Amino acid sequence: MGEWFVGVLGGSGLYGVDALENAEWRTIETPWGSPSDQILTGTIEGMRFAFLPRHGRGHPISPSELNYRANIDALKRIGCTDLIALSAVGSLREELPPGRFVVVDQFIDNTKLRASSFFGSGLVAHVSMADPVCPRLAGFAAAAATRAGAQVTEGGTYVAIEGPQFGTRAESHMVRGWGADVIGMTGMPEAKLAREAELPYALVGMVTDYDCWRSDEAHVEVDEVLRVMHANAGIARRTVAEFARLLPPTREPSLIDTCLDVAIVTAPEARD
Ligand code: ADE
Repeated sequence: MGEWFVGVLGGSGLYGVDALENAEWRTIETPWGSPSDQILTGTIEGMRFAFLPRHGRGHPISPSELNYRANIDALKRIGCTDLIALSAVGSLREELPPGRFVVVDQFIDNTKLRASSFFGSGLVAHVSMADPVCPRLAGFAAAAATRAGAQVTEGGTYVAIEGPQFGTRAESHMVRGWGADVIGMTGMPEAKLAREAELPYALVGMVTDYDCWRSDEAHVEVDEVLRVMHANAGIARRTVAEFARLLPPTREPSLIDTCLDVAIVTAPEARD
């Protein structure tokens, strides 16, 4: 048993966590390059938290330009045990209206241009992604968001698109046909890299729009996405604070903590 140290990846419109005590911005470098920004560390209810603005403060970095490997590795290096992602998403289902918080349990990766593994170049590993979300964290996240005042849907499939453009109507219908419930641009490869870093991961999608599949929906506009995100930023910040209150005092080990034990296939003598 150990201590929790939760990393929070905040999406568009979420650039800080006000409940954080002893807050300190720290600069972390990684062999993969620089993360999106400095990392804000501190405590909430005595629990350690590290907050990384995923797109950098002021949103200078697009989803396709993010250094996902540096972001996850920086949170690992700072000592995080678990990761929670908060992300704006479009809705692909009538019953998930703007304002809804969806704690997803599955992902589809439809990105194209991103470095999405720490492995390769002499060290081969195949981690299981069958269940990409940690159910323990997802449960705490859903309870925390409910306590924070959100309408919460537990479970759902997130499809990640490359962006930075929003999708076409044909693509929106296609991903609905694939079974996706929400659409975003950052959940992958973040979830894959978190697993490779042996960090349990959960993602809270905050619905900002209906994408463009509905016949009566014009199309997605950034100002509408940002308006809904800002309207929900208070609930998102409270979700993090409530999450800290819900965590048990000690952290039981997770199977994800050691998932590389059964994933590396390169023989020790063949490793670079
Ligand atoms: N993020 C928020 N809304 C989105 C949408 N409709 N498509 C992709 N990413 C999004």
